[in-house]
Amino acid sequence: MTGRLAVVGLGPGDTRYLTPEADEVLSTVEALYGYGPYLDRVAQRAGQSRHASDNREERRRAAAALRHAAQGANVAVVSSGDPGVFAMAAAVCEEIESGPESWRALDLKIVPGITAMLAVAARIGAPLGHDFCVLSLSDNLKPWELIEQRLDAAAGAGFVIALYNPVSRARPWQLGTAIERLQRHLPRSTPVVFGRAIGRPGEEVNVTTLDAADANSADMTTLIIIGSRATRVIARPGRGPLVYTPRAAAEVSA
Ligand SMILES: C[S@@+](CC[C@H](N)C(=O)[O-])C[C@H]1O[C@@H](n2cnc3c(N)ncnc32)[C@H](O)[C@@H]1O
Repeated sequence: MTGRLAVVGLGPGDTRYLTPEADEVLSTVEALYGYGPYLDRVAQRAGQSRHASDNREERRRAAAALRHAAQGANVAVVSSGDPGVFAMAAAVCEEIESGPESWRALDLKIVPGITAMLAVAARIGAPLGHDFCVLSLSDNLKPWELIEQRLDAAAGAGFVIALYNPVSRARPWQLGTAIERLQRHLPRSTPVVFGRAIGRPGEEVNVTTLDAADANSADMTTLIIIGSRATRVIARPGRGPLVYTPRAAAEVSA
């Protein structure tokens, strides 16, 4: 019997963001693998085994799930948000590429989810209404110099920039350095959105400027959107501001 492995996106937190497809796949598997707090978001179902691991264990977790599926089991690995965005789908592909030939024969399904960037953008308006790019600020898997090079290129090219993994206990200075770097390219009034724990208890969305952006106000559950020169803020009476980037670009960016 051919084993099955599904890599399932849970969305940013609120169970209303779990897609019907993800819910259906999760209801049929025999075994669930994932970072403990993410597994806790999956409804308990009789007969399913749960295999929790630390969030730095992605490749080992992927290999364990693949081995289990290769024994003929129906297995799921879960990720927060979308599994293809800085998450388990790539870790599973890395293991399949370097692992035994039999893993290539498995029935593999990637089930998409709402990624944090889209959830934050939807809370505040339409900051991603024009061209944008996405970077992880983590230098665990790439050198910091490469991140700086990409920040320079993205800001210089006029992209709105979504920053995943802005800080962690082991990476305390990177966000402050990135903000200083972006200030070289963009006006100090550029809108910046900090979206924290979207769809989870303690959710917060704050709008500031690049000048006032405080690296200390981000934690591991924060997604940051740095506007482009075209991004605008609309003040509203009695309501929070709207941040948006118009769909049309009139000029080549400086
Ligand atoms: C390893 S990445 C995983 C991203 C995930 N696969 C996704 O598509 O959202 C973790 C980073 O995603 C962002 N993130 C995840 N969930 C979030 C949430 N509920 N609110 C804000 N940011 C979140 C944070 O930047 C966090 O450091």
